[in-house]
Formats: sequence, C-alpha cells, structure tokens
Amino acid sequence: MVVGAPAALAAVQQLARAAGDAKAVAPAAAGKNAIAPLPFDPKKLNGISEKLIVSHHDKNYAGAVKNLNQVEEALAQITPDTPGFTVSGLEAAKLKFTNSMILHEMYFQNLGGDGHGVGSATEKALVQAYGSHARWEELFRALGNSLGGGSGWAILDWDFHARGARIYWAGDHTTALAFGAPLLVMDMYEHAYAMDYGASAKEYIDAFFKNVQWAEVERRLGRAQTADAVLRS
Ligand SMILES: [Fe+2]
Repeated sequence: MVVGAPAALAAVQQLARAAGDAKAVAPAAAGKNAIAPLPFDPKKLNGISEKLIVSHHDKNYAGAVKNLNQVEEALAQITPDTPGFTVSGLEAAKLKFTNSMILHEMYFQNLGGDGHGVGSATEKALVQAYGSHARWEELFRALGNSLGGGSGWAILDWDFHARGARIYWAGDHTTALAFGAPLLVMDMYEHAYAMDYGASAKEYIDAFFKNVQWAEVERRLGRAQTADAVLRS
C-alpha cells in the first residue's frame, strides 16, 4: 500500500509522540522554533555579569530564533515562480539563524558550572587529540583570542571523520564543521563580552573558563561517541 504524504507524516508523528519526541518530526518550514530559557541563574556566573548574559540571551539569541521563524514562514510561501535570488537569500538566512540558534543554546548549556570537574572521557579525548589538557586549552584560548575584535565561535567538536575531539574555528554562524558534534562552544562575537570587558577578549576567555559546565561537555561526548559507533555499524 502506498501511503500519502499527510498520512505518512501523521503516522510518523504518532510514533514520535509515543516515543516522547514530537520535536523530531517538526515540519521543515514551521516557523515555530521556541526560545529556550537560560539554563542557569544569570546572577551566579563568575565574571560574566547578569546584565550581559541576559542581554545576550534575550536580544542576540532570541533575535536569531525570531528571525529564523520569520524566514521559515517565508520559505513556506515559495512557489516554482519565486525568483532564485529570493530562494537563495532565504536559504542563506535560514542557515545563519539556525546555526546561531543551535550554537547559542549549546553555549548557554555549557556555562553555569564552576570550571572544574572535567569528566574522565573528556580528559581522555583531549589527551588523545592534543597530548595534554593544557595543550588543548592553550590552543582553544589562542583561537578565541584570534577572533577577538571580530566575530565567530571557538568550538571543540567530536569530529566524526577523524573519530576524535578537534578544535574548529567558525568565522561566523555558517562555517561550522560539516560532520561534527559540538562538545564545548565559546561565543567570540563582541556581544558576548564587550559590555563587561570592552575589547579585552582575553579577560572574557578567562571568565568563560571559570564558568564551564564540564558535566555537560562529558554528556555530549558520550552521546557523540555512541553516535559515532552507530554510524559505522
Ligand atoms: Fe552570541
């Protein structure tokens, strides 16, 4: 029996609801992305002010989500007669705002800790990749500093191609590693620190490391390594 698209979608959604994962089958152009709340008390970060982190969340991150919803709604109106430049412009905006949403959510989720308690699997992955935790941190900080005064992200990914932890530069929201899972995300856009530190990216990076939630990094690594094994099965 051939199942029509609406029926097939309904069947998938029913299965997803049964699995408690309705988000997994959201339509592609829904315009319904929700703004996630800050996952920690904004008053309790060490060296990153409440004013800055709330502004970052409520203006920059939430703005990306709202823009993405508008872009998705516009994409839903595309017809075979829509000019190519309109389609390509909307798709470029979709990628930019989607990655901004994802990276900001991961950034906030890997903050709120005390910078201590690096998990054993994380420590092992860093040593395997860079020889020592200290060398990895030196390189990660150097990447962050290199982005100071501009924009971009410093990301520690699980690299599915290399099968290991790797640092990647992202000059903007659209240059992320093609086949990776972010483990630790550091926002280097000036809005992430200028309110507290002016142009001093180095001081912000020091503060970032004092607030890393390493348990979240360890959790992400575990999921990525499990996915890596499944992808190769
Ligand atoms: Fe940001």
